[in-house]
Amino acid sequence: MPSWINIARWLHILSAAAWLGEICLMAFVLIPQVTKMPAEGRGQFMTHFFPRISRLASHLIAVTMLSGLWLNYLMTGWRNMHVYLTSRHGLLVLAGGALGLLIALVHFGVLGQFETRFASGDQQAKTLRLMQIVPKVGLLVVSLAFILMMVAARGY
Ligand code: HEM
Repeated sequence: MPSWINIARWLHILSAAAWLGEICLMAFVLIPQVTKMPAEGRGQFMTHFFPRISRLASHLIAVTMLSGLWLNYLMTGWRNMHVYLTSRHGLLVLAGGALGLLIALVHFGVLGQFETRFASGDQQAKTLRLMQIVPKVGLLVVSLAFILMMVAARGY
């Protein structure tokens, strides 16, 4: 039977990797393709597919963050929390976790707005310009969180 700390770590790494993968798909496949679609098809496509994409992202973000907190608890028992501000390992996990939290807040903050904006044709062009930037910035931030966590766990 694998230890709980390994189960938490595997869950954390797999969900973080799936989240990163979904952002790559958005940034490099879905949005570039949607941009090439005719306007009337675009609204239909986005209002049909986008809710599912963001629902998957919500689940992956929730599992990444909760399994990270669980892993953190199994490793530290949430005692001596000052080590997070005084050790390199602690600072790296804190920085990676904070970046993840930032993207999670943006995700849950704008959730739903993109669908409604796409459905209402008049805001579609502006929303599409935003969609060409937001996933790419998200990709940079989540990749950085990933790297900080890996350096925390294994050094560089
Ligand atoms: C609430 C936010 C988070 C917390 C509390 C958290 C906590 C942790 C902890 C305690 C570890 C183990 C470090 C070690 O083995 O020494 C870890 C590893 C890891 N975390 Fe996070 N994490 C969070 C968010 C994230 C995010 C947003 C990502 C990436 C999208 C991420 C990716 C990883 C990866 C890839 C590892 C494994 C590194 C390895 O074993 O090579 N974590 N995390």
